[in-house]
Amino acid sequence: MTRTAPSSLPLHPLLAERWSPRGFDRDHEVGERQLDALLEAARWAPSAANTQPWRFVVARRGTVDFDVVYRALAPGNQAWADAASVLIVAAAQTVSADGTPLPWASYDTGQAVAHLSVQAQHDGLAVHQMGGFDRDRLAAEFDLPAEITPLVVVALGRHDPDAQLPEPFASRERAVRERLPLDALLLQRDPRRTAAA
Ligand SMILES: Cc1cc2nc3c(=O)[nH]c(=O)nc-3n(C[C@H](O)[C@H](O)[C@H](O)COP(=O)(O)O)c2cc1C
Repeated sequence: MTRTAPSSLPLHPLLAERWSPRGFDRDHEVGERQLDALLEAARWAPSAANTQPWRFVVARRGTVDFDVVYRALAPGNQAWADAASVLIVAAAQTVSADGTPLPWASYDTGQAVAHLSVQAQHDGLAVHQMGGFDRDRLAAEFDLPAEITPLVVVALGRHDPDAQLPEPFASRERAVRERLPLDALLLQRDPRRTAAA
């Protein structure tokens, strides 16, 4: 099943063909090297002043950590995420070790996850990010200090187009992929404003 983005201009296939499935192959296991390659992709993301504020909890299916992360997910995510091969908590360190605030920590962590996602696409794996989870519960379970904030849980695995999903998730798997038009993303200065003297 192809879910290629109907983009207005041609995109690199890694970008155009990436999407976020909920149907995962519940028998699939990610190899150690394969998983390391994804984290390596995240590691080489750019960040403000190269502060690299991303931190990860990596939990493979069948482990206690996986169950802990899974139980912190919102019910709508629990409905399908149990079949993922790995659940990764992506967290941002918002204050450096010497107490300096890291105001771009969330931005940088999102960028690291984007790198991971593209590498996963390249490696024949699928990623589905989830903001629907109990942040405080996860922080407590993994004894995260206050300066480390969980941002998303990433479901990672091999897409299974034949996976049996409950509604409404089965329909969403086939729904038309949409985005705002390009024009709507462009902010412009009000032309009625006069030039600064
Ligand atoms: C920060 C973030 C939070 C998200 N949270 C959820 C979530 O809790 N549950 C879910 O099913 N999808 C979640 N998604 C997936 C988005 O709904 C999905 O990326 C979006 O609809 C675009 O679809 P595509 O990734 O297939 O292009 C999240 C994505 C991001 C980036």
